[in-house]
Amino acid sequence: MSFLAATLTRVKPSPTIAVTAKVAELKAAGRDIIGLGAGEPDFDTPQNIKDAAKAAIDAGKTKYTAPDGIIELKRAICDKFKRDNGLDYTTAQVSVATGGKQILYNALMATMNPGDEVVIPAPYWVSYPDMVLLAGGEPVIAMATLEDKFKLTPAALEAAITPKTKWFIFNSPSNPTGAGYSRAELKALTDVLMRHPHVWVMSDDMYEHLAYDGFEFCTPAEVEPALYDRTLTCNGVSKAYAMTGWRIGYAAGPVELITAMRKIQSQSTSNPCSISQWATVEALNGTQDYIPANNDIFKRRRDLVVSKLSEIDGITCPVPEGAFYVYPSIAGLIGRTSAAGTVIVDDETFATALLEETGVAVVFGAAFGLSPNFRVSYATSDEALAEACTRIQSFCAALS
Ligand SMILES: Cc1ncc(COP(=O)(O)O)c(C=O)c1O
Repeated sequence: MSFLAATLTRVKPSPTIAVTAKVAELKAAGRDIIGLGAGEPDFDTPQNIKDAAKAAIDAGKTKYTAPDGIIELKRAICDKFKRDNGLDYTTAQVSVATGGKQILYNALMATMNPGDEVVIPAPYWVSYPDMVLLAGGEPVIAMATLEDKFKLTPAALEAAITPKTKWFIFNSPSNPTGAGYSRAELKALTDVLMRHPHVWVMSDDMYEHLAYDGFEFCTPAEVEPALYDRTLTCNGVSKAYAMTGWRIGYAAGPVELITAMRKIQSQSTSNPCSISQWATVEALNGTQDYIPANNDIFKRRRDLVVSKLSEIDGITCPVPEGAFYVYPSIAGLIGRTSAAGTVIVDDETFATALLEETGVAVVFGAAFGLSPNFRVSYATSDEALAEACTRIQSFCAALS
């Protein structure tokens, strides 16, 4: 019998982290690589947030805290939910963890029993299915197609729900597609959930603030208040505040669930970094002015990438509402052969050949559950993006 836990045989390592590691390895070997794989802003953390962290260190806020967050941060989170989402939560309904990732993981660990199902729309963030598997549950994938602009239809949600469904994971704007649901589109999904009172909603609102062209963000508990008692509203500061390394995520929901999540955290990691928590108090309570300024930059980059990729014969690239990703289809390139002789049989061979032949790193669509596509993260400089698009255009033009 293997020394390692049997559960691990059900789980894959994160393919996006693998691409980031590959890029670092090739760069270290001296190759000219443009990495469009990583899901993190290239902006620095705003100065007021860094100053708050330095002040916290100087004030000696460097000790253990309550396992799921300091009260000052929980209050700031309650204020944020009220201000941005019109949602009323008390501090007892709030949990703070080491990144949005740990919040989702705690929630699944706290609720999954063998055989429990979790409905996950595809294309999905790579970690959802594997976290469900780690927690002992069964992911049930519901397809959202290019024709539906990568948004799950009510019929597809209805078809995926069974008596064993425990959670529906909802993510808008989405990683990997950038698709954002309008209020009407989300209401059509919450109407389905109202017919299935045993299904809870895990709303991953990580990209809430990254939205363009006047897109109005909304979240399930706000759109359908009757779902409030069975919704965990998850968020974090990694993306909008350029704080990926600080590792702070948070959620609000029913007290019983939040208490169970605290129990798991208190017996595993304990509190998230005390300094990062104080920095997050400032992120949420301080100026929000840089968010629209950053979004202007992201929108410009999105438009650049979409227009350049759309010029390529064989690639279809929808315009996403938010996040910092595009998810083009390469259906029109399948079966063709690259200049170096690789036959493009699927999106993985496309991404590998693109990296080897041009030095541009993207993540293949199969990792996100919908092929043949690839994900571009445009959270990098305009110059790097323009050069990457030129290389992708030349690579595709050379296909025979
Ligand atoms: C959809 C989504 N949810 C959650 C996370 C996790 O964020 P964090 O870095 O705060 O753990 C990510 C990060 O890539 C994400 O894309």
